Amino acid sequence: MYKLANVYREFFPVGTAVSNDYISKNRLLLLRHFNSLTAENCMKPVYVHPFEDKYDFGRGSQVADFAIRNRMLLRGHCLVWHKQTPDWFFLDGDSPAGRNKVLSRMESHIQTVVGCFRAAAYAWDVVNEAVSDVDGEAPLRAGKWLSLGGEDYIPRAFRAAKQVDPQCRLFYNDFNETRPAKSRRIYDLVKGLLSDGVPVDGLGMQGHYNIYGPSADEVSAAIELYASLGVELQITELDVSLFRHGDQTSFDEPPAELLEMQAERYGELFAVFRKYSKYITGVTLWGASDEMSWLNNFPVKNRQNWPLLFDCEHRPKAAFERAVQWK
Ligand code: G3I
Repeated sequence: MYKLANVYREFFPVGTAVSNDYISKNRLLLLRHFNSLTAENCMKPVYVHPFEDKYDFGRGSQVADFAIRNRMLLRGHCLVWHKQTPDWFFLDGDSPAGRNKVLSRMESHIQTVVGCFRAAAYAWDVVNEAVSDVDGEAPLRAGKWLSLGGEDYIPRAFRAAKQVDPQCRLFYNDFNETRPAKSRRIYDLVKGLLSDGVPVDGLGMQGHYNIYGPSADEVSAAIELYASLGVELQITELDVSLFRHGDQTSFDEPPAELLEMQAERYGELFAVFRKYSKYITGVTLWGASDEMSWLNNFPVKNRQNWPLLFDCEHRPKAAFERAVQWK
């Protein structure tokens, strides 16, 4: 059987998101097919920095140690995000914290976390999902980082990370990144940062797609637009849902025709990634096998989705075969 990361060795590393629990139970699948890891949750602020005076690197360190021991790459995920961030970042007693307090807490968080994982993480998603999804509104996502920290929170986050680890590759990471209006906003944000000399090394296209779209042409157009910024690109959270966004249908077993559509999608997506591999420095799936996907709980709680390359018994799916066979 083909080994995924081996097949792609000449193109880019192939990674997966993991939890420390998943690592302890599924070593063989991980070691056989992947040469890069991302912590799905346990390096996020709510887990590593639950209180201002308390860091907890336990679970994150298990992921980092596994990567080091097995000579795998590790992408750090994520430092500044509107979700999974404890409220204390934004409070001063019961009132909203002032700008200086919010930004200095953010910088101190970044310096400590990047410093802690310095030996393992070659890249970090520094700022995640800062661009608005609402066409026609202000380009930056409304939220506490923006309202309390001001627009400056984004450049300051990148500068703080670069200061503590100058070798680390620093990414801006976002979803819905192939939609034309949003891709233009992402492009404008990163272009502005670069022209101000902010150390952004790469752009993460999350890649949360479904069997109906986006098309290969739409993904290609986004890659070409972002590549024109001159930064490296990574697909950071790839999965292909069997459902359209908002669809509430559920199945006991995945319908064969939907799995076939999924296989076709994975085949054409990986063909696009190979075509643009001179710009792409990594492709990471958001999970290794179907029993462990965030899509099994979103947007419908406990609905099985089957969005990945390996099934719940870790057998390669048609999607896997199509992703590795092209010659
Ligand atoms: O830690 C608690 C646990 O204590 C509790 O018992 C359990 C009960 O449901 O919940 C646990 O927290 C869950 C956490 O994942 C860890 O499993 C949260 O409820 C759940 O909301 C959270 O979901 C994560 C989601 O980010 C949060 O928005 C997903 O696993 C994770 O895959 C997802 O990842 C994001 C990326 O970081 C950024 N891009 C989008 C992507 C998908 O949403």
